[in-house]
Amino acid sequence: MSVPRSNSLPARVRSDVAHNARVWNYWLGGTDHFPVDRAVGDRVTGMYPSIGEVARADRAFLGRAVRYLAGDAGIGQFLDIGTGLPTAENTHEVAQHTAPDARVVYVDNDPIVLAHARSLLTSSPEGATEYIEADARHPGQILRAARPTLDLERPVAVMLLGILSFVLDTDEALRIVRQLMDAVPSGSHLVLTHPTLELGGEGNEAAMRFWNENATPPITARTRFEFAAFLSGLDLVEPGIVSCARWRPAPGSSGPEVAQFGAVARKR
Ligand SMILES: C[S@@+](CC[C@H](N)C(=O)[O-])C[C@H]1O[C@@H](n2cnc3c(N)ncnc32)[C@H](O)[C@@H]1O
Repeated sequence: MSVPRSNSLPARVRSDVAHNARVWNYWLGGTDHFPVDRAVGDRVTGMYPSIGEVARADRAFLGRAVRYLAGDAGIGQFLDIGTGLPTAENTHEVAQHTAPDARVVYVDNDPIVLAHARSLLTSSPEGATEYIEADARHPGQILRAARPTLDLERPVAVMLLGILSFVLDTDEALRIVRQLMDAVPSGSHLVLTHPTLELGGEGNEAAMRFWNENATPPITARTRFEFAAFLSGLDLVEPGIVSCARWRPAPGSSGPEVAQFGAVARKR
């Protein structure tokens, strides 16, 4: 881990091209973005007005899924790949609220996330948090780097929220998921969200095309069939594969369905 000691941003941070971690932060109402991110974010919102709801529903799903895992499912370890910029209710905050000794490893490959990672390292004294700068395409490297913090002989929640959409090749995305889930024992869980064109979302497809011509990294949507393949061989936790907004919503607070699948599944 190498979190910068000063507030200065690493030279690798590019302020001339919109980056997903920063635009996502913009849609979530955060403050860590450049003019180019806001410009692209606004153009996408103009084409696909519900994108802000997608981002908020995805984060709310994260909160509900982690609360369930740390609570009812008794999971004490979390590997959150494609973490994003720190925001409200980060994984360790939600998990340690329920299980103070929860251990969380965050992984992202955007240098801006590394620059802000210190906010992700505010563990409870009983638990632990770690940040690894790595590419999701290298699960072996991630698992090696996570080992000092996570006991891979005990169940782990592997979280891939809004990130497999940046692995454009579906076979490669499947290999990543398999390698991660093969490395963790029975009782581990997989937590996924992924954009889709199958749950509506007016302007979604045009907005993705615009994104791919103007921002980075390029993104793809996936069908329910492709999403289900990531979970194959695992036991889906109720209610199964749904819009992430419809996954165990708090009573009376179900937001609109958004064009983002969400699911939690358990390894036998
Ligand atoms: C849409 S955001 C989702 C953030 C968070 N998981 C959430 O659900 O709110 C996707 C994140 O994945 C990161 N990301 C994209 N491609 C990646 C890759 N190949 N390896 C690691 N992180 C990646 C981006 O930098 C960004 O922070």
